[in-house]
Amino acid sequence: MNEKKGIILTGDRPTGPLHLGHYVGSLRQRVALQHQYKQFIIVADIQALTDNADHPEKIHNNMIEVVLDYLAVGIDPKVTTIFIQSLVPELAELTIYYMNLVSVARLERNPTVKEEIAQRGFQKSLPTGFLCYPISQAADITAFGADTVPVGDDQLPMLEQAREIARTFNRMYNCNVLVEPQALLSDVSRLMGTDGKAKMSKSAGNAIALKDSEEVIRQKVKKMYTDPGHLRVEDSGKVEGNPVFAYLDAFDPDKENLQKMKEHYQRGGLGDGTIKQRLLEVLLAELGPIRERRKQFAKDPTYVMQILKEGTEAARVVAAQTLLEVRRTMKIDYFG
Ligand code: TRP
Repeated sequence: MNEKKGIILTGDRPTGPLHLGHYVGSLRQRVALQHQYKQFIIVADIQALTDNADHPEKIHNNMIEVVLDYLAVGIDPKVTTIFIQSLVPELAELTIYYMNLVSVARLERNPTVKEEIAQRGFQKSLPTGFLCYPISQAADITAFGADTVPVGDDQLPMLEQAREIARTFNRMYNCNVLVEPQALLSDVSRLMGTDGKAKMSKSAGNAIALKDSEEVIRQKVKKMYTDPGHLRVEDSGKVEGNPVFAYLDAFDPDKENLQKMKEHYQRGGLGDGTIKQRLLEVLLAELGPIRERRKQFAKDPTYVMQILKEGTEAARVVAAQTLLEVRRTMKIDYFG
């Protein structure tokens, strides 16, 4: 019946507009794969609240922003189910059961969580929900029987955790109820920030958002970090670790010319202004149509909310089915 290759579940926290890092790490793949796979996209508001409980309005306001970004890049709600995490309470129930399968020590070892704890200064005030969000993410994935999860490489520890939970559950209850998911990395699985730091993120202020205006993109490109040793045009410059070249690698369709530019830059004689000008052209060409589509969808917020509502209803049916099987397997389906 299902001629699709498999099931995708992936998603984002609604904490801000999506940026180029999301785009190359996952969004482009979602658009490319949505006709081959049954695809679910979760807007993870519960996860966003694990470190924003004091700012619920931020999550509320970004819900529609994130969905506008999805529609703008070409995610088609006719084939992709977009839904709200907190309105599928089956996910919360699954999370509670999975909590018994994971030790606190295991959660504390998660490298991404560790890094995020340090970033947020949570050392002494770590919310329990934050520590446990990888379990909740495993519930998101396994509730849909997803075998494929297109994500950036920062999410690999979450996928490992989800696989472990599925394996532990199946082994403990001697069943085959949960599917072990695989991460699907894109060829550019992480984009550095405009400041040259390893990861682009809104909170670090080093991101170019998909919805940024031409003027904002121009400003951000102008201020981009390059090679601090490249002082004069005639000096030889470094390509590695240089975000302008990292972005050109990710977006410039003319790879032959790009190779020439890299050699020229390394040899000396190619100024930062010139490579930034090329990057600006490339980014404006890529983001222009996205920004236009976004504007069109933004005119009709009722339609966007309707997509979410219908997606959430459809997602709930699927998650409820998995929950039923989980309850049956754990012998807590008392009334059959
Ligand atoms: N942790 C992901 C992020 O920060 C968001 C997310 C929540 C997710 N649930 C998911 C990603 C399930 C993939 C699958 O971007």
